[in-house]
Amino acid sequence: MQRIFSGIQPTGVPHLGNYLGAVRNWVALQQNHDCLYCVVDLHAITADHDHKTLAAQTRDLAAALIACGIDPDRHVLFNQSAVHAHVRLGWIFTCVARMGWLNRMTQFKDKAGKDRENVSTGLFTYPNLMAADILAYHATRVPVGDDQRQHLELANDIAQKFNHDFEVEFFPAIEALIPPTAARVMSLRDGSKKMSKSDTSDQSRINLTDDADTISAKIRRAKTDPEPLPSEVEGLEGRPEARNLVGIYAALDDTDHAGVLARFGGQGFGTFKSALADLLVAKLSPIAAETTRLLADPGHVDAILRRGAERAAAIANPIVDEAERIVGFLKP
Ligand code: TYM
Repeated sequence: MQRIFSGIQPTGVPHLGNYLGAVRNWVALQQNHDCLYCVVDLHAITADHDHKTLAAQTRDLAAALIACGIDPDRHVLFNQSAVHAHVRLGWIFTCVARMGWLNRMTQFKDKAGKDRENVSTGLFTYPNLMAADILAYHATRVPVGDDQRQHLELANDIAQKFNHDFEVEFFPAIEALIPPTAARVMSLRDGSKKMSKSDTSDQSRINLTDDADTISAKIRRAKTDPEPLPSEVEGLEGRPEARNLVGIYAALDDTDHAGVLARFGGQGFGTFKSALADLLVAKLSPIAAETTRLLADPGHVDAILRRGAERAAAIANPIVDEAERIVGFLKP
């Protein structure tokens, strides 16, 4: 059975982009794969973070993932800092990856912006650790949103260079699993920007913890244009906000853009937005309620993560031990 690995950062509350771009796919893949899902707290400290809340945010996110349908009994759910194999292999990969490769990473350029001299060196080497996350388990399939595509290409470059330099066939090739609709959910305020935890406007995103009234209000206020919805997919060309809302509806309703337009084409945004809000509330409210229920017993969530870390370490440690031998370390 092919092994799945994926991760999510515990910075802020998970949002609809995380859910439709990644987590929903994580849940589905549990049917016929061995899966490891990781709350990547090591990655969270590459940007300024609040050390007083990081632990709680890590637990909250784990609870939200379970509420979304991640099964921590049949699969492995853990937080990254609890399994040291990630850092051990991450260092090796930092020595395998080339400056030029990392210099090309668009996410670094976006996040560093004009402040390149002042961001942490961890933000620059972030993709090396991400490659280590996956390859420490010899995972071959990685369900992510479209924004992680370039990082996964880099992970393959690192694996290939490692194999080539040390004359081994040790690390496998990895494949990105990117969903057909909603691979890139955009901001509700600006159809050219992706929905993001770091956007200063909470109106730009639907959080998985938002209540029904908040969801409805955010969708009502979402930016659109004055035209009615088109009847054909081509009519969404040049209308990023309309395309985004139609894509969200399609993903939630397990159809595609054409399926949504067959139903709502020719109608104004008023009717469509109210149907979209209803659908969002129906799909997300049970997740919010279950997250709250789970967090009433934080010790239980922590125990799940502890057990997950033990199981993850049992898989990763022998693989990373072998990688260290291949590199040439004395392991007395
Ligand atoms: P993160 O925490 O930013 O996002 C978690 C997952 O959600 C997806 N995603 C989106 N999908 C569609 N539309 C959006 N607006 C949107 N925003 C986020 C992301 O693509 C991701 O799949 N570097 C990763 C975490 C990571 C990881 C890994 C992922 C660390 N190690 C190993 C896979 C494998 C990140 O920051 O995701």
